Amino acid sequence: MKDNITTKLQVFTLLCFSVLLLQGCSGTTKPVAVRQTIVLKDGWKFAKDIDEDASATGFNDGEWQAVSVPHDWAIYGPFDKKWDMQKVAIIQNGETEASEKTGRTGALPHIGTGWYRKTFTLPEFEAGKKALLIFEGAMSEPQVYLNGKKVGQWAYGYAYFYIDISKDIIAGQPNTLAVKLTNKEYSSRWYPGAGLYRNVSIVVKNPESINQWTTFITTPSITTASATVNIKTAATGTDVHLVTKIFDAKGKLIATQKSSAGTNNTFEQNIAVPNPNLWSPETPYLYTAVNQLYARDVLKDEETTRFGIREIKYEANKGFSLNGKITKFKGVCLHHDLGPLGAAVNKAALRRQLTILKDLGCNAIRSSHNMPSIEQLELADEMGFMFLAESFDEWAKPKVENGYHRFFEEYAEKDIVNLVRVTRNHPSIVMWSSGNEVPDQYGAEGLTRAKFLQDIFHREDPTRPVTVGMDQVKQTMQSGFGALLDIPGLNYRVHLYEDAYKAFPQGFILGSETASTVSSRGIYKFPVVQEKEKQYDDLQCSSYDLEACSWSNVPDEDFVLQDDKPWVIGEFVWTGFDYLGEPTPYDEKWPSRSSYFGMADLAGIPKDRFYLYRSRWNTKDETLHVLPHWNWEGREGQTTPVFVYANYDSAELFINGKSMGIQHKNNATPQNRYRLMWMDAKYEPGTIKVVAFDKNGKAVAEKEIKTAGKPHHLVLTPDRKTLAANGEDLSFVTVSVVDKDGIPCPTATNQLSFKVTGAGTYRAACNGDATSTEIFHDTTMKLFSGKLVVLVQSTDKAGDIELEVTGDGLQKGTIKLSAKAL
Ligand code: GAL
Repeated sequence: MKDNITTKLQVFTLLCFSVLLLQGCSGTTKPVAVRQTIVLKDGWKFAKDIDEDASATGFNDGEWQAVSVPHDWAIYGPFDKKWDMQKVAIIQNGETEASEKTGRTGALPHIGTGWYRKTFTLPEFEAGKKALLIFEGAMSEPQVYLNGKKVGQWAYGYAYFYIDISKDIIAGQPNTLAVKLTNKEYSSRWYPGAGLYRNVSIVVKNPESINQWTTFITTPSITTASATVNIKTAATGTDVHLVTKIFDAKGKLIATQKSSAGTNNTFEQNIAVPNPNLWSPETPYLYTAVNQLYARDVLKDEETTRFGIREIKYEANKGFSLNGKITKFKGVCLHHDLGPLGAAVNKAALRRQLTILKDLGCNAIRSSHNMPSIEQLELADEMGFMFLAESFDEWAKPKVENGYHRFFEEYAEKDIVNLVRVTRNHPSIVMWSSGNEVPDQYGAEGLTRAKFLQDIFHREDPTRPVTVGMDQVKQTMQSGFGALLDIPGLNYRVHLYEDAYKAFPQGFILGSETASTVSSRGIYKFPVVQEKEKQYDDLQCSSYDLEACSWSNVPDEDFVLQDDKPWVIGEFVWTGFDYLGEPTPYDEKWPSRSSYFGMADLAGIPKDRFYLYRSRWNTKDETLHVLPHWNWEGREGQTTPVFVYANYDSAELFINGKSMGIQHKNNATPQNRYRLMWMDAKYEPGTIKVVAFDKNGKAVAEKEIKTAGKPHHLVLTPDRKTLAANGEDLSFVTVSVVDKDGIPCPTATNQLSFKVTGAGTYRAACNGDATSTEIFHDTTMKLFSGKLVVLVQSTDKAGDIELEVTGDGLQKGTIKLSAKAL
């Protein structure tokens, strides 16, 4: 398959003016784009832990595995406790003695050395042109060779970087790129992924061109009548000028400006946009700026940047406002892995995550604890999410033996500069974070480092503030660390919010990380009590949402602060989705290998907790969610509390038609304030029904849950039925087992098998069970709490796709999807 050549221009731009009309010798005119972006997607060869040096052009990689990039070499498993087994005390979790941690980094084989090789020719390149090789993330410590020569290297696996290969490319001939990546043991607190897990591309430009990552678009003044769009950029070339064209979301040209170069070939333009449409989570309106660079009158380069017009303010005692409206962050923290896809970035998977989060009513994301992908930011811009873009989990003091502290001195500035320059034009980003719970919260050097990093952010982007997620709150109140930050971010420590607000000068507090409640989808434990660090023999956590870690809390405690303290500017809940690694409270218990923190599980299926947040955050749609399930054979007559998460203040519960009384939300405890709870309900098989009342006591909604019979047939529900035939689009098909009457069987664990035919392939499956060692990419998996998700991937052919799911003794399920040419 050919490499994916895009000009990264909107189609309309391409048609209108991205071409330079060259006079061919035959007298005909031939359009040639002034810059090309070649995404190096297919045709890579990969090998792991080989003894040889594979950098040379002539190296024989014939036997290596053929892969496409983005690629995560470790996600294919197998799960094994021996990978990256760590004997450590997790100081951040309050541990004092070292013990064996088995699933801390996901129990997947990410440690070791991986080589990627690819041969390519660049017809677009000729001597004198510029060619830049761009990595959007390479896990980790990449060493890069072109035609046998080392051309560059980096360290941090999450960093953006580029290498100028203009002098090393052989024009018109095959070139060999080889990348060596090394992942050390003890280098992460979660699953980092492994390999070239984000895009690698080459940009070819003229010698006279816009300098890489220099364009910066801001909107310094906004009124209803007009907004000023400020564009700064820098270029190389003599006698150059810049023409900027601004297009609205429909592609209509709305403003143009021509400017000559200033000192050092820099440009600054202020362009008026009349009647601006403002960007916000509710109205994610995007404009496009096309910067055209001319040398004399010849078009030499063209760069397209999407941006939004929006105003952000953080003010003492008022908090955060977006476009003049006080807005609280209803945010989630997300690690970068995509469950069964591992760290390999995939836009369809990210879009599905954000679609689920939209339904939740979430308006913000924190990319904990590292640089977000471009794909995720593009989607956040388009779908309307504010973004807290983070950089590091460690500065100079270690959390893990081989963590970022090894690179801090040499790389911290470069990593921040690249992060900011690559991503600062995304309107979704409203805040930067220079660190998470860094041990440098202690000590005078820590303060110096906090200032050093914050100053770099300010220099590169004076428009957005900087936070640090702090867990050593008492310490940072005394040392001045918290006072120094633009935004004091508290991780947990609900009991210190009030003190921190008084101690810090900023006049507001951000819940940069909250809750860390643990639960397993569809698993309920009795008796129902609030507990910390609770463990069970099956290595699951109860979905009554009352269990947390020693340092963390249940959601309701955050809600109280969010609702009662106007100076709390919002929260970022740990986490939106479960992630690979960090299986607290079972860090020492095999086979736990992924987290229990998510509001949705690793497959993206919402847990009960999702609806608790939804009942507050989604102010448009009804939430009326009842738990637990009602299949408790053997618990007849026993106390089986029923909880309701709803955006109604009262409701009545009926068990098999008998009223269990009306519950009202009240202020007795945080739980009573936000949940409706029938603590004395007794189990009897049949139907439970909840009737919800409006403010006037009128019954306005109801929900029933029934005891299911034996598993009978499978129900397949895809998130999308039509895919793009591009070899990377995905449909996420939720598979549920139901009884003969169609009632979901909530405890079913049947072993299922999957077959995809037609113009698609089977990609992976995931059931959300944090203790499962079944490999995501095998075509069989057990249901967990009656459900799992199958990922079907398009090929580059259009046509019909069929997924068939079978299980012993079950009527099979099939679903038809289709792939359409782009
Ligand atoms: C926080 C930390 C996160 C995660 C979380 C689990 O302290 O910042 O990365 O470890 O705890 O509760």
